[in-house]
Amino acid sequence: MCGIVGYIGTEDAKEILLRGLEKLEYRGYDSAGIAVVNDQGVHVFKEKGRIAELRKVVDIEVEGTVGIGHTRWATHGAPSRINAHPHQSESARFTLVHNGVIENYEQLKREYLSQVDLVSDTDTEVVVQLMQRFVDDGKRVEEAFRYTLSLLKGSYAIALVDKEDVDTIYVGKNKSPLLIGVKDGVNVVASDAMAMLQITNQFLEIMDEEIVIVTRDSVTIKTLDGTIVTRNPYTAELDASDIEKGTYPHFMLKEIDEQPFVIRNIIQKYQNEDGTVRLDDNIRQAMKESDRIYVIAAGTSYHAGLVGKQLIEKLAQKPVEVHIASEFLYNMPLLSENPLFIFISQSGETADLRGVLVEVKKLGYRALTITNVPGSTLSREADFTLHTYAGPEIAVASTKAYTAQMAVFTLLAVDTAKARGIELDFDPIQELGIVAAAMETLCDQKDALEKIAREYLAVTRNCFFIGRAVDYYVVLEGALKLKEISYIQAEGFAGGELKHGTIALIEEGTPVIALATQEHVNLSIRGNVKEVAARGAYPCIISMEGHHGEDDTFVIPAVHEHLTPLVAVIPMQLIAYYAALHRGCDVDKPRNLAKSVTVE
Ligand code: F6R
Repeated sequence: MCGIVGYIGTEDAKEILLRGLEKLEYRGYDSAGIAVVNDQGVHVFKEKGRIAELRKVVDIEVEGTVGIGHTRWATHGAPSRINAHPHQSESARFTLVHNGVIENYEQLKREYLSQVDLVSDTDTEVVVQLMQRFVDDGKRVEEAFRYTLSLLKGSYAIALVDKEDVDTIYVGKNKSPLLIGVKDGVNVVASDAMAMLQITNQFLEIMDEEIVIVTRDSVTIKTLDGTIVTRNPYTAELDASDIEKGTYPHFMLKEIDEQPFVIRNIIQKYQNEDGTVRLDDNIRQAMKESDRIYVIAAGTSYHAGLVGKQLIEKLAQKPVEVHIASEFLYNMPLLSENPLFIFISQSGETADLRGVLVEVKKLGYRALTITNVPGSTLSREADFTLHTYAGPEIAVASTKAYTAQMAVFTLLAVDTAKARGIELDFDPIQELGIVAAAMETLCDQKDALEKIAREYLAVTRNCFFIGRAVDYYVVLEGALKLKEISYIQAEGFAGGELKHGTIALIEEGTPVIALATQEHVNLSIRGNVKEVAARGAYPCIISMEGHHGEDDTFVIPAVHEHLTPLVAVIPMQLIAYYAALHRGCDVDKPRNLAKSVTVE
């Protein structure tokens, strides 16, 4: 949440910062700002709303070859111009942008800043005012920066500029992502490499509780006690076209369409020459040795975890529990003797998961992260990583990362089954190939799905999704997709559960989307459809070839029964997309949300 950029080089920084922020807008988009530094001082421009709004207030006459920028997802203080970053110290000597949450900011304010009039409601402003206070007290700037950061509790990625030294950017990090991009005579700062790919693909990682002093020609990493750290840059393997919409109107639509390719890519990355699954031996061993798997995730990734549980229990015959990350720490179940934890996260940065991972490591348990971002915090801090190879997912609503997570779970389940000597009548490589082809067929049926969205969802206030067995997990995801981008109140239910209360909400014309891909519950889910139809609901049945009915609204091509979620979700994603479009919503950037949830 929140995105940071910084530039120090030879070109005018404004456009580079603004373009970088546009690439980071997925991390938060309620306000934004930049500070451009030149010999006349530090010029701050900020505005409520999107980067497009910020562009309107930036003075094109102001030029400078150094600058920092920020796009915000509000935590402390409402989204407003005043609360937007950059924030400045009282004398305007220091200017700072911050991503994260300073948990002890009230205490720091009381202890050190009782004489200072803070202008914003943010936790961030405290940091920049502390800098001023310690420099006024006689500390050198770098020393004051390290000292300030050592007082902070919580998470931060910070970039700071000093009006009296216009050739340096001070950077610090703890628990929030931040990278330094390096090039001859130019260095950049970014929350995500994709923001600065137009400048460089060489990036340096910063570890927690390190600071970096960035000038045009040098990057000096130090620990908070001042010890110099040496580290080599890595090459960011990102293709600039991966982060462009191309001819698509929205990233979400592009990412839905990319799913067949993603599945084929995963097959290729995890396949041996003889067509068997290739996974790290250490992961296989850890899966084999554990007596119970605990899957920890949030949101869409949690829904993928529910499907993952089915796959591992059915194929590898190993018990799995799936937990919502934000609940796990506060309501930990009785753990088995030899657990293995699997963290599923598209971004690899979700704070709720990180809290659990830190605790799990303290307890001495092993952890595997399944993520789309291998260098991410959750990936670095776990013992093992499985990469989902979905490519950058920019739309806030997750689509291709979800199907990629389930595909990787399939391979993990099959590999574990093999390691346990379980004979399977299931070739994952072949079956995933069939899934990719079915996905293609579905992506070609956009007109039919757009029509369903228009017919069922153009004016409704709410919508229910029902499914049984693994279809229940898919309808949870279908409902989440619809509500987050169209703002229609949508809920997913186990088909049999609706009549235990929620059926009271069914009125004349209430849309109920029923998913029926599973033979063994086909009759019972259709019975549930009849129950709601009898009470006036307007049912939409999405079924699978082979056990579909004549009057079903939409029929999905058949795939192996273990893998139906990977295809069944596609009509749900597209229905949500078109419903949001018809209702005039901002599909890629729904209100109140951000892509990477780095606060608890
Ligand atoms: C919904 C969505 C979120 C994320 C959740 C976890 O479309 O994207 O529910 O799935 O915030 O994020 P990651 O997977 O990055 O940990």
